[in-house]
Amino acid sequence: MNYDFNKITDRRNTNACKIDLAVARGKPKDVLSLWVADMDFPTAPAILEALHKKIDHGIFGYSCTDEPFHAALSAWLKNEHNFSYERREMVSTPGVVFAIATAIKAYTKEGESVLIQTPVYYPFKNMIEANNRKLVTSSLFEKDGKWQIDFEDFEHKIEENDVKLFILCSPHNPVSRVWTRAELSRLAEICLRHNVIVFADEIHNDFVYAPNVHTVFSTLSPEIAENSIVSMSPSKTFNLAGLQFSTNFIKNPALRAKFKTERDKTGYDEPSLMGMVAARAAYEGGKPWLEALKKHLLSNIDFVRSYLKEKIPQARLIEPEGTFLLWIDFSALGIPDSELDDLIVNKAKVWIDRGTMFGIEGYCYQRINIATPQPLLKEAIDRIANALNGGCNA
Ligand SMILES: Cc1ncc(COP(=O)(O)O)c(C=O)c1O
Repeated sequence: MNYDFNKITDRRNTNACKIDLAVARGKPKDVLSLWVADMDFPTAPAILEALHKKIDHGIFGYSCTDEPFHAALSAWLKNEHNFSYERREMVSTPGVVFAIATAIKAYTKEGESVLIQTPVYYPFKNMIEANNRKLVTSSLFEKDGKWQIDFEDFEHKIEENDVKLFILCSPHNPVSRVWTRAELSRLAEICLRHNVIVFADEIHNDFVYAPNVHTVFSTLSPEIAENSIVSMSPSKTFNLAGLQFSTNFIKNPALRAKFKTERDKTGYDEPSLMGMVAARAAYEGGKPWLEALKKHLLSNIDFVRSYLKEKIPQARLIEPEGTFLLWIDFSALGIPDSELDDLIVNKAKVWIDRGTMFGIEGYCYQRINIATPQPLLKEAIDRIANALNGGCNA
């Protein structure tokens, strides 16, 4: 089957945060949006078919997972990630951020410390602060075009702040690293040594570019499985974020009970019906679409790499190992971060994410979402090149 990822679908006035929030968020009306991490493509045909069937059935009552759902999910996780779970170990939430907030409340008390590795997806920080926990950061650093972990600093921050919970982003948004097994093992050992529970946000796990390989955190060892929560979702992989469905795997019964207690206190009970229907269909029949999508993303990465080399040589692409988000360093332009951002938003009229939103380490970086048709991507970077090179846009 042929999938056309270069076909442009008009998303205006479709309740799309990425597009329809522009003016409310202070961006120009005609801005081109490549910020929030959803995709500008309709989801896989197999998923649309399952959703249509459910709509035709016409009943949208309270819903629960069933055997065919678990069969589809477990086959996917086994085949794609060499990960197995017992049915009782899976806990659903309406999203991964919801699960992060739940874990913070379940495993820490107000005032206690939660560690993250910045720059990182900004809701990590927001959830820690909104729940009155102490935010502790260990900065990643860039060396030879690759962002890395400062393990000594990581351990030092744990000791200094008596950290109780670490929220890991794996693969990492925005630095697009797919952490190696060795890196993850080293983090895990430090956490075990200091009794730090690990919440592994693995929402980007299906976007990994060869030869990189994603390792599910809890598969590192039985001890680590007992000390961690792994959160996944079909929402990034199949563009289903609006259907509000994610799965968390918690092997340790005590950790699982605490998580469920906190989750249940919110009043959340059953998973979203359409989210679950879409997830099952994705895992049963979405693979050919995903494979074609990954080819399109690789072609977009090649396109951006060549374009920058030729037209904005001062912009340095951090070679992505995973995710559909590119992390680009503009510091060689010598423009202050605020000026760079103003040029991109107000002169180029492109809405991408300013690096400092993820942490101060992102100074003069920008994150661009490439899960879009290539003509739109070209239009966006043409606009940026023109603005940076002093040209003007109509
Ligand atoms: C690392 C990471 N975690 C979580 C999310 C959002 O997850 P959800 O929509 O399931 O809350 C995103 C979305 O971009 C993300 O990049």
